[in-house]
Amino acid sequence: MAEFSLPANSVVKEGKTFKAPDGASNVKKFKIYRYDPDSGENPSLDTFEIDLDDCGPMILDALIKIKNEVDTTLTFRRSCREGICGSCAMNIDGTNTLACLKPIAEVDGDCAIYPLPHMPVIKDLVPDLNLPYAQLRSVEPWMQADTPAPANEERLQSIEEREKLDGLWECILCFSCQTSCPSYWWNGDRYLGPAVLLQAYRWIADSRDEATGKRLDDLNDPFKVYRCHTIMNCTNTCPKGLNPGKAIAEIKKLQFERQ
Ligand code: SF4
Ligand code: FES
Repeated sequence: MAEFSLPANSVVKEGKTFKAPDGASNVKKFKIYRYDPDSGENPSLDTFEIDLDDCGPMILDALIKIKNEVDTTLTFRRSCREGICGSCAMNIDGTNTLACLKPIAEVDGDCAIYPLPHMPVIKDLVPDLNLPYAQLRSVEPWMQADTPAPANEERLQSIEEREKLDGLWECILCFSCQTSCPSYWWNGDRYLGPAVLLQAYRWIADSRDEATGKRLDDLNDPFKVYRCHTIMNCTNTCPKGLNPGKAIAEIKKLQFERQ
């Protein structure tokens, strides 16, 4: 992306510009979505000119620098700064990803930063994630087994059984995939979405879990799973390199085999 400008029909207006310090020679423009519900104003896109010679290498470094040194009201989530907590997910340069894992150097020209798309915005870069978290709760993402665990021992798995969880347990619930999915944009109230379905499959695939049939029956619904049309934005955008589209396909396959 070279120079970033808003579409003519955008309700988001150009906002304030915060100039780089005098003498800065390696300046990059960060165009950041701002929305404060208390102001009663429409959202705006503020421009922050940052001297990259005085900034860490990641997008999150730039956001923290802006918050610390330029505008303390800039609001975003972050915690671990190493791709583990999932809280810094946002739309950077047109793609959902983690601000702490995204190098500034990978963004050509101006860097546009928006909250995760198609979610209500609480403030600035903070989306309201109550819906996907409620959907996550609905798939009961914990082990369910009536058989008592062996005395003084863990519930063991073979190496092959454990390997079936690879590509699933690594999900950090950042919801980058969930909010990149057009089916979720249009049917998010009834379609569970790729992040939640990957979590559901993580327990379906677990050899220690004894609720597999109930889990598959609960998901057997025209909307919960079958609004997935294999668009695959989810897999393309996952910053952890996971494949929610494949997890959804596995659920559909198991449901078909149960018929
Ligand atoms: S599958 Fe990837 S993009 Fe989706 S929530 Fe998990 S880590 Fe984030
Ligand atoms: S701050 Fe934790 S994933 Fe980015």
